[in-house]
Amino acid sequence: MAIPQHTIDQILDRTDIVDLIGQRVKLKKTGRTYSGCCPFHQEKSPSFHVYRDKQYFHCFGCQANGNAIRFLMDIDGRNFVDVMKDLSSQTGIELPKDNQDSKRLSYKREIKKPASVQATPAAIVEQPAPNVAFSSNDPFEEFQNDAYSEQHFNHNDPFAAFEQFDPIDQNTVQDGNLYDLLENIALYYAQQLPHSQTAQQYFKQRGLSAETIQYWRLGYAPEDWQHLEKAFPYDIEGLRQLGLIRTSDKGRDFDLLRDRVIFPIRDPKGRVVGFGGRALNDEIKPKYINSPDSEVFHKNQLLYGLYEGRKQKAHDWLMVEGYMDVIALQQYGIYGAVATLGTASNTEHLNILFKQNNRITIAFDGDAAGQKAARRTLEIALPLLNDGRELKFFVLPNDHDPDSLIRREGLESFQRMLQTAPLLSEFIFAHLTQNHNSTSPEGKSQVMGELKQLTELLPKHGSYRYLLQQYFREKLGYSRKWQPQVNNDASLSFSTKIDAEEYVIAILMNHPYLYIHFEPLRALISHNQLLFKILNIFNTIFDDLPDDTELSQYYVLGACANFHHDLQHILPQANISDYTSSPEQADKLAEDFSIKLQYQCLQQKIKSKKFTSIAEMRNLKHQIYEIDKKRSLTLLDD
Ligand code: UTP
Ligand code: MN
Repeated sequence: MAIPQHTIDQILDRTDIVDLIGQRVKLKKTGRTYSGCCPFHQEKSPSFHVYRDKQYFHCFGCQANGNAIRFLMDIDGRNFVDVMKDLSSQTGIELPKDNQDSKRLSYKREIKKPASVQATPAAIVEQPAPNVAFSSNDPFEEFQNDAYSEQHFNHNDPFAAFEQFDPIDQNTVQDGNLYDLLENIALYYAQQLPHSQTAQQYFKQRGLSAETIQYWRLGYAPEDWQHLEKAFPYDIEGLRQLGLIRTSDKGRDFDLLRDRVIFPIRDPKGRVVGFGGRALNDEIKPKYINSPDSEVFHKNQLLYGLYEGRKQKAHDWLMVEGYMDVIALQQYGIYGAVATLGTASNTEHLNILFKQNNRITIAFDGDAAGQKAARRTLEIALPLLNDGRELKFFVLPNDHDPDSLIRREGLESFQRMLQTAPLLSEFIFAHLTQNHNSTSPEGKSQVMGELKQLTELLPKHGSYRYLLQQYFREKLGYSRKWQPQVNNDASLSFSTKIDAEEYVIAILMNHPYLYIHFEPLRALISHNQLLFKILNIFNTIFDDLPDDTELSQYYVLGACANFHHDLQHILPQANISDYTSSPEQADKLAEDFSIKLQYQCLQQKIKSKKFTSIAEMRNLKHQIYEIDKKRSLTLLDD
């Protein structure tokens, strides 16, 4: 890959060599430069210098020298491109795509009109296919400028705008680009909509406004069996690569999408990459046809509506089933709805959504099929639930999908229903208990058995699996044999009434699996504190904790036997079962306490001023900064 000089310069501009080298070498400020012991040769007194103003390093001992790129190449023994890729992702400055990429995206344009389309109306064929016209990087940006369609598309003569372009030189073979072709096809389909009364009527009957139709770039694919070939006679190879034309057994080409309304599908960058086509009435099967996967269209990695939702700065994301659901919700003012492209949702889809927000909601039909789909999605989603990710299930009333529901209910009422969607724990409980008589001992043990199957899918080292079991036991009315003395003060504002450190100990003794949240605290807390000693014990025994709630509590009590005297005084003060009303809440509370205490520890360190170096202080300040960001999201008082 050739990286142009200006990109290299840009990347170097955004990289600070002192910070970069400072991560690997202990540097001390000496006058205008920074110095330290050279990482490239053995030395006791520092002769390695870094100059911020020149963005340059030099060692007077071994003569190693260069810029940030050289430093990374030499210190890790990596090649130039490798280092540049790294710096590119750190600085956010993109490297040019390699040639391989553009090869994959290109196809051979034909020089002569293919014989099969000779009969096409002259007005279209005589004009060269207008690929050059639409090679903008963000076609939608331009599209949103209302002028776009007016300027480029005159309804009577779709290609009038291209007359200004030179006709293609008939002697040169040209490479077409699939993205350009897709963009032109989307324009072509949109252009066909005003010509079809039925298609317009269809959208109208489904309640879509003209604005919505334009926003989603909806269109119409005519009945004609070869309309794309006629509109794009030079691009047959490209159409074939996109799977938009098919070949019959007799060797005749025909269009994949005919007499259907068209939903162009955009990738996260806003480029059209494929199409969905819906039949104009419900007698026609299949109801939807989607263009097949191609070089630029990977259904497993795409979500319909993601680009649009991000553009509208959606905050809450909702996974629905169909294109029409996404569109109807958007028209009513709910922006973060996305749908898969006619395939079942997979890990990749969920991960894409979790990147938008830690909390996502999945909508399901209330019927049996919906329940089945919910179960399947649950099994895909559970392994992904780490790092504070939250999942909610929005079960729709019977015989409704989001499209029909928002039309009936309106925005406010829909939003209210959405907001009261159950937490994952509640959903799983409802889901598992509906198939069993959960009042009988047999039913209960069946529910617990099925729960175990589900919790085994959760990430291994998380507290949620444990909390969920505990929650089920309590909901099913299994009595707990061991419980600390109760004092009903436990609440989120509890921290003002009890020493936070002691409270954490009480939390840990009751919910050993919550230790996972306190691991970072162990590294910060002063060694003579009781909490430190308890955390240390947890660190040793954590991997061996029994799965069972009560057993794990006994196990911990045993391991902490040396501290029974102190614990006796602490445990009765905190009643944690109050907030185990939901496992999600218990998890969050533990996380919040951990953050609060981490922040306190760091503050104390700064105040005590016992640093050995500037780097250490800088590091400490950075940690405080990071934890302070998290702290602003906690529910605890200071
Ligand atoms: P549904 O059949 O649930 O229909 O398909 P819908 O979204 O409510 O469609 P409308 O409201 O009748 O227009 C949900 C999704 O499943 C895919 C499509 O992506 C559709 O949006 N699907 C459905 C297909 O790919 N092929 C089909 O034949 C049907
Ligand atoms: Mn529908």
